[in-house]
Amino acid sequence: MSQKPILRALKGERLPVPPVWMMRQAGRYLPEYRATRARAGDFLSLCYNSELAAEVTLQPIRRYAFDAAILFADILLVPQALGADLWFVTGEGPRLSTITDAEGVAALKPVDAIHEVLHPVYETVRILSRELPPEVTLIGFAGAPWTVATYMIAGRGTPDQGPAHAMKSADRAAFMALIERIERATIEYLSAQISAGAEVIKLFDSWAGSLKGQDFDDFALAPARRIIAALTTRHPGIPVIAFPREAGPRYAGFARATGADCLALDNSVAAEWAATELQKDGCVQGNLNPRLLVTGGRELESETRRIVQAFSNGPHIFNLGHGITPDADPDNVTRMLAAIRG
Ligand code: CP3
Repeated sequence: MSQKPILRALKGERLPVPPVWMMRQAGRYLPEYRATRARAGDFLSLCYNSELAAEVTLQPIRRYAFDAAILFADILLVPQALGADLWFVTGEGPRLSTITDAEGVAALKPVDAIHEVLHPVYETVRILSRELPPEVTLIGFAGAPWTVATYMIAGRGTPDQGPAHAMKSADRAAFMALIERIERATIEYLSAQISAGAEVIKLFDSWAGSLKGQDFDDFALAPARRIIAALTTRHPGIPVIAFPREAGPRYAGFARATGADCLALDNSVAAEWAATELQKDGCVQGNLNPRLLVTGGRELESETRRIVQAFSNGPHIFNLGHGITPDADPDNVTRMLAAIRG
């Protein structure tokens, strides 16, 4: 049986001190990340440079001794591998060529072709599984089909995912074909990450909260269930963390319904509610507000302790409710860790 704290928590074990890592832990708040990114050129060049991507993955492990490392890549590499154009506008975020109809979906590359683009990511995983300290768990990841589709349809991030909702109503068949294509690509992508050495998979459904009623079941829950089923058939025992962000009450039962081993919680989930309603089904991960790593002070310490305390009767991985932001103070991360680890 594995002794790695993250794997123990994912198997349902309550640990006296929760293991910890942070969403976006390799990122612009770290001077060493900014330096390596400058060497790589732009963000996408860094994602596809296996040596440098492994280097930035390791930086927060060296600095903070986190219990997990998350592969450095992006959820939008899958659309790119399926043939979408992708670029990042500084200060604004991602831009993609858009898909609006069945023709656009049909023009995508076949799922088998994704590895031609994504193979450097698998090499990053191989490097990391050699270089990580033995107690650190390597997490691979992908975006969930709905969240990835929102970017492919709109060509950018949107506040309300309006274009994706519009295509879902106007051309249901084309929309479903797109979800299905992303889903199959995601299974192949994650399976290749596991074969290369990823020990845990996290599925990011950042926009799950904008799916209501039956749409939530059809486009957040069902794809997650099918992806997890396919992965666990091919790689028995592989733990999966699901992140149906802003799902609110729909977090309840999500782990059981999808087969996820752990639910990652966003900031809007009350820890006391989650401890009662979610922890009985397995591990939970979260959910400090990343803003506190900017503001620091007593509230950072008291909130960190409150979350540790609220989840102390069951399996818990300490994390943020969303990614750490570029304006966070690296010393506040040290303060957060001191409040967790004592
Ligand atoms: O967590 C990690 O350290 C691993 C790497 C990782 C990145 N993106 C690196 C990244 C992971 C797991 C992601 C996931 C991701 N990417 C999500 C889901 C999680 C979430 O945040 O809701 C989404 C929606 C994306 C798409 C994306 N990538 C956006 C919208 C942006 C721009 C916003 C921003 O923060 O700049 C990115 C860029 C991005 N992805 C950066 C990093 C470190 C910043 C790029 C830079 O260095 O300039």
